[in-house]
Amino acid sequence: MSTDHPSRFRGRSAIVTGGGAGIGRAIAERLAREGAAVEIWDRDQAALDTVVGELRKHDPQASGARLDVADDVAVSGAITAFCARRKPLDILIHAAGIVGPSSTPITAVSLADFERVVRVNLTASFIVTKHAVAAMTPQKYGRVLLFASVAGKEGNPGMCSYSASKAGVIGLAKAVGKEVAGSGITVNAIAPAVIRTPLLDTVDQKQIDYMTARIPMGRTGTLDEAAALSCWIVSEEASFNTGFTFDLTGGRATY
Ligand SMILES: NC(=O)c1ccc[n+]([C@@H]2O[C@H](COP(=O)([O-])OP(=O)(O)OC[C@H]3O[C@@H](n4cnc5c(N)ncnc54)[C@H](O)[C@@H]3O)[C@@H](O)[C@H]2O)c1
Repeated sequence: MSTDHPSRFRGRSAIVTGGGAGIGRAIAERLAREGAAVEIWDRDQAALDTVVGELRKHDPQASGARLDVADDVAVSGAITAFCARRKPLDILIHAAGIVGPSSTPITAVSLADFERVVRVNLTASFIVTKHAVAAMTPQKYGRVLLFASVAGKEGNPGMCSYSASKAGVIGLAKAVGKEVAGSGITVNAIAPAVIRTPLLDTVDQKQIDYMTARIPMGRTGTLDEAAALSCWIVSEEASFNTGFTFDLTGGRATY
């Protein structure tokens, strides 16, 4: 059970990728409830329409943009348009992601599938971080939050593409967090274990059972728990944390 901080993000602006579903949606809704000017990005127009409708109960100018987060030109243009329409960008949360092959040995993973997963999970993390940092630099303030996974720390057998892409996200956050450490901008990531979202509909049940069985708390995480940690990381209060991948695993993580 989490408790909102009603005016924590008043005067702040935020873009949430993957805001049409799951973790991104939960974060976008909490940011809007707590006063932020919010835009969500997703590839799914119907999901965008539904969530923007919810966000407008709290932020009447909340908006959605249908785009592919791995499209460099589209991402750059969308950030520029958002800043022109609303205000300089303070917060970028990148929650769009895909799983790709699961319960699949590397010998059965096609190069096309591997590259598709890396493109959406890792290349897009590079693209959104690059353009967000450029937009935030003049104001000497910003919060970038990426989504890795415990699979990127430990490696989940049967999920080599996903695990490799998420390990890359951890490295990206470490490098860019240090690079911009003196600029007022923080760059962090979260590594969840299993959170019940539509993402899991794309994962083989045997794979979900494997991952859930490794959570010492004996349960999956909730959307409230994911949004609570995310919103603290992108708040002003989290001013001495950068380049780090935060744990959200019910005890699975060993480092
Ligand atoms: N749910 C979990 O158990 C879990 C565990 C570890 C890590 N994660 C990570 O957390 C993040 C959020 O996961 P989720 O469970 O909320 O996923 P989800 O599938 O529920 O939602 C992801 C959203 O991203 C959108 N999306 C996917 N590819 C896109 C693209 N190329 N361009 C634009 N939008 C795109 C989808 O349409 C969807 O609305 C992901 O990066 C995921 O890998 C999730």
